[in-house]
Amino acid sequence: ARLLEQLGCGDDLIVVSNRAPCIHSHTPDGVIAQRPAGGLVTALEAVLAKEGGCWIAHGSGDADRDTCDEHDHVRKEHLDAPYRLRRLWLGEDEVAGYYEGLSNEGLWPLCHRTDVEPTFRDADWEHYVRVNRRFAEAVVAEAATARPVVLVQDYHLALVPQMVRERLPDAVIVLFWHIPFPAPQRLARLPWREQVMAGLLASTVVGLQTPADRDNFKLARGACALGAGAAHVDAYPISIAWPGRQELPAPGLGDDVRRRFGIAPGVRLLVGVDRMDYTKGIPERLQAFELLLELRPELLGQVSLLQIGAPCRGALPAYQEISRQVKAMTARINARFGTDTWQPVVLHAASANAATVTDCYRASDVCLVTSLHDGMNLVAKEFVAARNNLRGVLVLSRQAGAAAELEQALLVEPRDIGGIARAIGRALDMPPQEQTDRMRAMRAVVSQNTVFGWAARLLGDGMRIAAGRTARPEL
Ligand code: F6P
Repeated sequence: ARLLEQLGCGDDLIVVSNRAPCIHSHTPDGVIAQRPAGGLVTALEAVLAKEGGCWIAHGSGDADRDTCDEHDHVRKEHLDAPYRLRRLWLGEDEVAGYYEGLSNEGLWPLCHRTDVEPTFRDADWEHYVRVNRRFAEAVVAEAATARPVVLVQDYHLALVPQMVRERLPDAVIVLFWHIPFPAPQRLARLPWREQVMAGLLASTVVGLQTPADRDNFKLARGACALGAGAAHVDAYPISIAWPGRQELPAPGLGDDVRRRFGIAPGVRLLVGVDRMDYTKGIPERLQAFELLLELRPELLGQVSLLQIGAPCRGALPAYQEISRQVKAMTARINARFGTDTWQPVVLHAASANAATVTDCYRASDVCLVTSLHDGMNLVAKEFVAARNNLRGVLVLSRQAGAAAELEQALLVEPRDIGGIARAIGRALDMPPQEQTDRMRAMRAVVSQNTVFGWAARLLGDGMRIAAGRTARPEL
């Protein structure tokens, strides 16, 4: 049965996020639909594809308007999904102020511990408030009843819960914050922290990724002038949909993937799959691989790192810089160690579709997730889900939320280059039985904690609390 029916939510489920699950573009062959890279869409798409409902998001593709009807809903022939997708149109100045400015030059670096510091501009904040208001109005317009269940996603939309609450006081509003939540001393740098906290605390439930994020949020709530809001606050680690019955990887898959990326047959494969973001620790990963090649020359010619780096937020200087840096490091390492027949680093600086990414996971010996700081990191969970042959090793940053669940990964500190190099060496040397034991344990964790369980807990708590019943005791 549908989760919504079980929970008594009715049919009035509205998801609201900045990024849409599908982006339409014009090509010489006609309009194509693409799924953007990123954990939010990976997780939420699975839930809405099962539950139905309405998804409201910013329309950013150059064919997005042409694929919508007069109510800004994507026409049926362009959306092969059981939910409605309503697009919201933002002007260039709104994108620059709300998305690039306040969200990604302000809140994103505020919430992630990296070398990039946040920038706050009053004009960006004004756009942020206005755009949040526009999203909230779209929610009200889409609500079929006075008591919709509204799932608000992420740091782009922190004011939406309060703005929806003003118009629909009985709505069940669940906000999920996908990225880390900063400690109070750090949050104190945000000029509009009181407004942001008030916006969030109008929710029925505020969900964070990990117990540490939840504790930071509670400290922030304690410190804000308006005092404790009514929202129930807890950790709800996000996840993926566990794949149905899958064949074992075909014997030729490894060679096939190597051929696709120009890697010689028989070369062992390390794989990294990331958005090209400075939070992901890609330079540190490359440095560690370089160090490994120095320390263990017997690996020269024997192992390549295939790094997929999906372009992202390209208008921002910090993203242009990380992209330039990763390309330059790749070129330098390849010039230093590469031969006519072997490239140590193969950088695919483009997005890859889900099937290709799964093939890469299945063909690799080791998956590298070395984020400097990450809310959850669903690549780690996707890799585990793809390895039904119980082989392959995950090297995982302790600074990613996923590390709290995937204890059987080889856990590393993302700035400890020597430690990462040793972990990659250990992963390459790991006996098959140990790979199997670790993979089996991680698969048990992820298969039992899917995104449907995540949605059930979040929505279940939202429904219970809205109905005035006693909340589940907090952890
Ligand atoms: O939660 C992280 C996040 O901002 C998500 O909203 C999104 O899935 C991902 O990063 C991709 O970022 P963007 O939407 O800015 O391309």
